[in-house]
Amino acid sequence: MNRWVRSIFLCLGSTLLLMNWSVAAEWETCSGIVPMQNRYDKISILDFGGVGDGRTLNTKAFEEAIFRIQHLKRRGGTLLYVPAGVYLTGPFNLTSRMTLYFACGAVIKATQDPSQWPLVNPLPSYGRGRERPGGSNVVIRYVTILAPADSPNTDGIDPDSSSHVCIEDSYISVGDDLVAVKSGWDQYGIAYGRPSHSITIRRITGSSPFAGIAVGSETSGGVVDVLAEHINLFNMGVGIHIKTNIGRGGMIRNITVSNVYMENTRTGIKIAGDVGDHPDEKFNPNALPVVKGIKMKDIWGVKVLQAGLIRGLKNSPFSGICLSNINLHGNNPGLRNSPWKCSDVSGAAIQVSPWPCAELTSSQQTGACSTYF
Ligand SMILES: *[C@@H]1O[C@H](CO)[C@@H](O)[C@H](O)[C@H]1NC(C)=O
Ligand SMILES: *[C@@H]1O[C@H](CO)[C@@H](O)[C@H](O)[C@H]1NC(C)=O
Repeated sequence: MNRWVRSIFLCLGSTLLLMNWSVAAEWETCSGIVPMQNRYDKISILDFGGVGDGRTLNTKAFEEAIFRIQHLKRRGGTLLYVPAGVYLTGPFNLTSRMTLYFACGAVIKATQDPSQWPLVNPLPSYGRGRERPGGSNVVIRYVTILAPADSPNTDGIDPDSSSHVCIEDSYISVGDDLVAVKSGWDQYGIAYGRPSHSITIRRITGSSPFAGIAVGSETSGGVVDVLAEHINLFNMGVGIHIKTNIGRGGMIRNITVSNVYMENTRTGIKIAGDVGDHPDEKFNPNALPVVKGIKMKDIWGVKVLQAGLIRGLKNSPFSGICLSNINLHGNNPGLRNSPWKCSDVSGAAIQVSPWPCAELTSSQQTGACSTYF
């Protein structure tokens, strides 16, 4: 392993790396999906007027540093170093071929002044303002992301119409989903047609009144080939939530979630086709999502009020749903938690407790685990 990369590990600082796929060198990888890259060009936020005193607004400093990276286009990209300190800031956009490197003790803190948060134009895949543009070839690791549990719409990380994204070794405690993979909203997302694929989410710990690992509910461009593993969740609304809706269209396929521990959770596993609203009334009610090939295995939960809920669509039943080695215990040892509820779904279940719904346990379905994987 390159010595420079090793020093990141030892420091336990935080990095956000934006890669250009074509120039990325073939060495150390995060997840084996996105090649890591050394950055010979390094700049510090202090050189752009950054002040880490917790009071000075640093939006301009970040914007100017990133503007320089974007326009100077140094060979091999640029690392932007943020030394220890608390940097108050409004929103800023990242760019390609950059590493945002937080030294140990470096915090970027969102300003509470609403005038610093202008509305951004809606993404073409959303129709109305909602999220920020997604980015492909992105590595996020060793970050801590915090927002108050009662702050609305504060997802931790949303890969949106993005591919080759790796999110590892991070702690996220927010007021909405910790990580949600998305790809556009109803007719806008269908027209835009850009899926999220090849997403790895690994060694994430956190808590939220909403979902831990989520897909959706905006999945109109499709979400395929997602792997989430080694996830620890505490005080959650829903542990794992795959969600879509009529009018979304899009395919959700080949999603694997494994090695999850959850504690004090309202619903352990939820896969549902009736979640989330619509951008406007012009959505096509015949644009039905397809949900196929979802594998969940090696999941352990304690104090889980409801083990699982799978609600497919009558005209587009969910298929190839495979559950194996899942134990979701209720609030009280000895007392059972609410049983699984399922409709319009087929698949298989092996060693699942509490015993899941009949739709998943009928014997002719046991091939489901191998069919889609
Ligand atoms: C950041 O990107 C958004 C969306 O493309 C854009 O509306 C906004 O103006 C950008 N902000 C800056 C500071 O460049
Ligand atoms: C499913 O997704 C994983 C990534 O999570 C990928 O490695 C694998 O090749 C995909 N399987 C199929 C059959 O596409």
